[in-house]
Amino acid sequence: MKVIAACLVLVFAAVVQSAPSTRSSFKVKETIIPPRGWTRQGRAPGNSPIELRIALPQANFPLLEQHLYEVSDPFHERYGQHLTQDEVYDLIAPHDESIDMVDEWLGTYGLFEEHFNRSPGRDWVKVKVPISVAEEMLDTEYYVWTHTDGDSIVRTTTYSLPAHLHDHIELIQPTTLFSTLKGMRTTFRFDKDSQINVAANAPPINVPTASGGHVDASCNGTITITCLLELYNAVGYNASATSGNHIGITGYLEQFANEQDLQSFFADQRPQAVGSSFKTIFINGGENNQSLAEAGAEANLDTQFAFGLTFPTPATFFSTGGSPPFIPDILTPTDSNEPYTEWLDFILNDPNPPQTISTSYADDEQTVPVSFAQRVCAGFAQLGARGVSLTFSSGDGGVGDGDPDPASQECFSNDGTNRTMFIPLFPPSCPFVTAVGGTIFIPEVAVSFSGGGFSNVFTRPSFQQVAVTEFLKTLAPGTYAGLFNPNGRAIPDVAAQADLFKIFLGGEAGLIGGTSAAAPTFAGFISLLNDARLRAHLPPLGFLNPLLYAIGQLHPSGFNDITVGNNPGCGTEGFNATKGWDPVTGNGTPNFGVLKELVTGALAGAAR
Ligand SMILES: *[C@@H]1O[C@H](CO)[C@@H](O)[C@H](O)[C@H]1NC(C)=O
Ligand SMILES: *[C@@H]1O[C@H](CO)[C@@H](O)[C@H](O)[C@H]1NC(C)=O
Ligand SMILES: *[C@@H]1O[C@H](CO)[C@@H](O)[C@H](O)[C@H]1NC(C)=O
Ligand SMILES: *[C@@H]1O[C@H](CO)[C@@H](O)[C@H](O)[C@H]1NC(C)=O
Ligand SMILES: *[C@@H]1O[C@H](CO)[C@@H](O)[C@H](O)[C@H]1NC(C)=O
Repeated sequence: MKVIAACLVLVFAAVVQSAPSTRSSFKVKETIIPPRGWTRQGRAPGNSPIELRIALPQANFPLLEQHLYEVSDPFHERYGQHLTQDEVYDLIAPHDESIDMVDEWLGTYGLFEEHFNRSPGRDWVKVKVPISVAEEMLDTEYYVWTHTDGDSIVRTTTYSLPAHLHDHIELIQPTTLFSTLKGMRTTFRFDKDSQINVAANAPPINVPTASGGHVDASCNGTITITCLLELYNAVGYNASATSGNHIGITGYLEQFANEQDLQSFFADQRPQAVGSSFKTIFINGGENNQSLAEAGAEANLDTQFAFGLTFPTPATFFSTGGSPPFIPDILTPTDSNEPYTEWLDFILNDPNPPQTISTSYADDEQTVPVSFAQRVCAGFAQLGARGVSLTFSSGDGGVGDGDPDPASQECFSNDGTNRTMFIPLFPPSCPFVTAVGGTIFIPEVAVSFSGGGFSNVFTRPSFQQVAVTEFLKTLAPGTYAGLFNPNGRAIPDVAAQADLFKIFLGGEAGLIGGTSAAAPTFAGFISLLNDARLRAHLPPLGFLNPLLYAIGQLHPSGFNDITVGNNPGCGTEGFNATKGWDPVTGNGTPNFGVLKELVTGALAGAAR
């Protein structure tokens, strides 16, 4: 532990000189109430290392946001003129003054440029210090906290900074972030008895918007690639392997995507794709163990369907490490439990990220500190500005928290009062990502677990003003008053099938469901649209939401409007699927054929 010794000497020297860190006294920067389920144990060992991640304010973020909306609005002359990586870096750069003041502060603890890991945009500084030093820097105490599900992490519920630094540091983690990242899969039917059997000789189901006007009868019990291509009107569209189009799937929580299972899946559902595979990128100590016993249901579901739908589009699986458990005795160096930022660090630094990326993991929004949610959301905005479309599962608890124990589905607020409230999820609640809800059966109805509702952190963005206002008018006065924030960013934006998906896992076929199935499915069709655009010499779609709501308002046949079903939770029946946008299925499920005509025709924007 050479760093400690060096620090002590230098701290002493600094105090003797001018003690800049005491130039102003400490002032509390952030205080949180720990989310339910976490219990404080003993003090964290002072000599364990902790990597502090310091966010400097992104001075011109409002300008970046303005560019983002211009290049994502199909009616703006700049539609599709995405920013370059360097343009984004310039827009998020902090003021020099912030950089200098933070450097000066770190210097008083013996921490200099050679100890820092600075992001290319210079808006983040990472620096590893012993916990005892972090406690001094932040005038706090770190404890080990354990969760009822067995995870343990090192956190604090409050931290301070010298007052003169408050305008120059937006946040520091790990401090107050008690993440309980979950995969969004709810149902699992591996026992053959519970599978839904549709008579083998049943006639095709008439669906006027489907390819050829009908869908195979078996699709009402088992969803396959063929079912999705039929239902969403994409049969016969052949993607190009060489258009420059790519698709990506993120993986967290040691969820491994198994190659052998993928081949079984392809043999069963996408024979042309047998022998093809995907690239795996390892981030922050992520792995992808290929033992069949280690195959992850979430990772297999996401990769099999996204890559099956888009074959032969080049495909990438991002395996990001850094999830619990933190084991203090082992001094796990990769633990951060804030995996989105690890992934964002990587992908924002990638000169050529996939144009479409899907994620099926999320947290309850109220368990994520507001400062952290806003900063991560700003990272998603940067990707959108560069032309990347991001889909996220909207959640599997309806309007509630999805607690598997119905007795505890009480949707407690985390503000100290324990009042009942609906529980939206983050990242889907970030306006710069596309939240995907779920449907089931054919004809399609909303699936009851489809996550939907209203953010308590992000206000309603202009792109959904008209659609959401129309929906709110359908509610009887006073409906669910106090349970949701009618002025919040509303989710989901769109939907797709979300249950009875046939996947291969650990060598066996089974049925699985969750909005985890819907997000990679919707992403698959977006990727096919990007393929069509690139081949027409048009830029990729990028940040989707302004386009999706414009289609919902002006070209409603681009979506299959879902008007039956609701999403119960928190002891309520939840919201109803209605005509037009609703907080169960958003604008509806995709009609690829119509969308393709729109994004290469009426809503194409200018060629590049
Ligand atoms: C599909 O299954 C659902 C649920 O069993 C049923 O309500 C619906 O009528 C079925 N669709 C057809 C076309 O039979
Ligand atoms: C797609 O490829 C298949 C098989 O090669 C071919 O039969 C079909 O006509 C192609 N579709 C289009 C629209 O080109
Ligand atoms: C992969 O998982 C298997 C089974 O759990 C284990 O025996 C093996 O050591 C793991 N391989 C690696 C490289 O971690
Ligand atoms: C809220 O719930 C927590 C966890 O059960 C409990 O410790 C706390 O006392 C409750 N607070 C109030 C105001 O009821
Ligand atoms: C949903 O629709 C049912 C049946 O029309 C109605 O009774 C109920 O009040 C609606 N719920 C909401 C939240 O609008």
